[in-house]
Amino acid sequence: MIGGSEWEGMSLGQMMLASFNEGREQPHPPFFHAAQVWNHDFYWRSMKPGGGGKPPERLLKFINRDFGSHEGMIRQFMDAALTQFGSGWVWLSYKGSGLPYVKSRSPIPSDNHGRLVISKTPNAINPLVWGHSPLLAIDVWEHAYYLDYEDRRADYVSAILEKLVSWETVESRLAKAVARAVERDEHLRRRILRKQRLAQANGQSRARSRARQGRQGDQEVARSRPVEA
Ligand SMILES: [Fe+2]
Repeated sequence: MIGGSEWEGMSLGQMMLASFNEGREQPHPPFFHAAQVWNHDFYWRSMKPGGGGKPPERLLKFINRDFGSHEGMIRQFMDAALTQFGSGWVWLSYKGSGLPYVKSRSPIPSDNHGRLVISKTPNAINPLVWGHSPLLAIDVWEHAYYLDYEDRRADYVSAILEKLVSWETVESRLAKAVARAVERDEHLRRRILRKQRLAQANGQSRARSRARQGRQGDQEVARSRPVEA
């Protein structure tokens, strides 16, 4: 990505995750630039002329299960958009797994997975840093709406949800996210299992070695003991 730097050769997404610094103190400076490019590109691709309306059936099933209804999801999304203090983003994501893919702490409880979640993030933060798969993003930085809507953020977000969002795109992202989550879970489970087996084998080998040393120690003590007359 940036020639001669530690980010060279990474895709935009890889660079964003690597420079996030696992949520410790501050992300590395390239994070904000990489994430804002990623976020804006994703945001533009979430819309189409004549969008909005009801989501397609498969997506709607997930929405009904996780938010009660389409209206319930819209209410929760609007609430997140209006309560994000200052600049940031609002997201609909798929939280595919409770397994620890990334070290950054997710704001959504770990047992709450295999479902859609809504989150709001400050500045450039993207739910990918918590291992969530973004499905829809709306920019709530002031520059996104002030020229058209002044301070009426709610009208801007409503206009996107009612007239612009491409639910077909969101549905196709969900299908990919679900498939990817199954694949990643399988891969990670195998890695965790391999690590556990290795740790177990190392533990057994250390125990054998300690037992051997213990026996040698006993023999040396026995040899050095003075012979009683
Ligand atoms: Fe923006």
